Amino acid sequence: TTVSLIGAPTDVGASVRGAGMGPDALRVAGIGEALRAHRFDVIDRGNLAGPPNPWRAPVNGMRHLPEVVAWNRSVFEAVSTALAMEHVPLLMGGDHCLAIGSISAVARHCRQHRRNLRVVWLDAHTDVNTEAISPSGNLHGMPVACLLGHGPPDLVGWSGERAALQPGEIDFIGIRSVDADEKQAIRALGLQVFDMRHIDEHGMRNTMTEVLQDVDEDTHIHVSFDLDCLDPLDAPGVGTGVRGGPTYREMQLCMEMVADTGRLRSLDVVEINPALDVRNRTAELAVDFIQSLFGASTLAR
Ligand code: ARG
Ligand code: MN
Ligand code: MN
Ligand code: MN
Repeated sequence: TTVSLIGAPTDVGASVRGAGMGPDALRVAGIGEALRAHRFDVIDRGNLAGPPNPWRAPVNGMRHLPEVVAWNRSVFEAVSTALAMEHVPLLMGGDHCLAIGSISAVARHCRQHRRNLRVVWLDAHTDVNTEAISPSGNLHGMPVACLLGHGPPDLVGWSGERAALQPGEIDFIGIRSVDADEKQAIRALGLQVFDMRHIDEHGMRNTMTEVLQDVDEDTHIHVSFDLDCLDPLDAPGVGTGVRGGPTYREMQLCMEMVADTGRLRSLDVVEINPALDVRNRTAELAVDFIQSLFGASTLAR
């Protein structure tokens, strides 16, 4: 298997600067070497190009919409190219708005090849705001809504269907921060959210068993990994950290259970903010988890 590393160095979807340095933080933490050590072929496609962050206030409820569209177009093209070659695209963000381009490309590919899509959204947030309800106007809080067909026309419909995803195709894990109107949206859409209370009460093992229950040999699993899913004590290099995330052990188990399915076909690693980090700890932690996601285990091999 070949993994295509795709860097998207931007923070246009956020209101905290710094996530644009994420791709190099992951390279410095050894992401390529770590995957090669597990016998993957790794091609680093370098960084995509796109507009600078104009650092403006939201317009019509959205900050930097034209720039977010431009960056996502590049991501959509690069991820589509990797998938067409049957590579595993590993998108190195950048902020989480980039999941719009990435997952739209994955959804189109899955439809073309008649594969079932399952998105595993690892995050402290559900990112299902729209421009009408977002308290911040930051587009990194809206990618899931756009993928479900709700958002500005410029960011909806890229997969070839109005909705790239159906609500039943995405599961959220680690959630502990949802905005007031976003709660209403989650209920209206019927989304499956495994929040931190669910993980506290049922444990990560039962949670992941439920998430992965209907995965079969025709399933394409996409993991969208926002590093703020973790506790900020473990992962301080994020712009919108929320205390009370899964423990290191719980997150390792989550990654290992996805790996055990053998169906991981694409990945986003987003929201690493080196400007807020401590000696690249957050990127190093991300690489540690990514190794488990790609099948590293303590005793096998
Ligand atoms: N819910 C908040 C908002 O919409 C925070 C979103 C944080 N998203 C992220 N990808 N870190 O502004
Ligand atoms: Mn988040
Ligand atoms: Mn489900
Ligand atoms: Mn997110």
